[in-house]
Amino acid sequence: MKDSRPIGIFDSGVGGTSIWKEIHQLLPNEKTIYLSDSKNAPYGIKTQEEIIRLSIKNTEKLLEMDCKLIVVACNTATTNAIKVLRNSYKVPFIGIEPAIKPAALKSHNKAIGILATRGTLTSELFTQTSEIYTKDINVIEVEGNGLVELIESGKKDSEEAINLLQKLLEPMLRAGIDYLVLGCSHYPYLIPSLKKILPENVQIIDSGEAVARQTRAVLKEKELLQTEIPEKPQPEFYSNIDPSVLADILEASGKNYMIKEKDF
Ligand code: SIN
Repeated sequence: MKDSRPIGIFDSGVGGTSIWKEIHQLLPNEKTIYLSDSKNAPYGIKTQEEIIRLSIKNTEKLLEMDCKLIVVACNTATTNAIKVLRNSYKVPFIGIEPAIKPAALKSHNKAIGILATRGTLTSELFTQTSEIYTKDINVIEVEGNGLVELIESGKKDSEEAINLLQKLLEPMLRAGIDYLVLGCSHYPYLIPSLKKILPENVQIIDSGEAVARQTRAVLKEKELLQTEIPEKPQPEFYSNIDPSVLADILEASGKNYMIKEKDF
């Protein structure tokens, strides 16, 4: 098996790099192309029609770049657009959904928190999954309004971020949650700030590793894996605004990454 075409990954901005990191770690032989649609962030407050239109635009760009599989590294785009994408294109799509199932199964307190965008929390896909796994669980859903904007402007570790998180988490802490599900690919970048606020017994769950494992499984099943390579491929990142926040979040200095501004 030796398919050297790249894996394409897109997100509403820089947050999906949290997923890219997991994929790159698990599949270091695979070439990856990441599109950061920061010009249109956040997706979470847009209509479903608009989210579908943007997801199609990103997909078309990745297909122009000959991608063999596309990872929708954005919960909002997955929950609102992945059905349309799968019905419209032959290439396999991997999506990211909030990890409600493991949190609900592991919770001793029978209380879990879900932090996600309005677009994700109101989507049909999210509502259906939540109904299946959380029948006997108190689920505290909170819209993370403002968080994506802070991360996109390089303020993930700021006092402003801590203050906003404190306010958003308050109803979850009052309900005694013991699991917090991060339902947006941007939010893993808030984990250091979250740890300053959450009591020690609260576990944080995100979906990055699961997405990487699923990517590997699908590539294997469809015989698309790149197994033999003379040297590790250079990851490519494109942003449709100034890519400096992307470079910062990737801690790219000194690394063999290509990071460029591109119109898409
Ligand atoms: C957003 O663009 O609003 C968030 C992206 C996500 O849901 O992962």
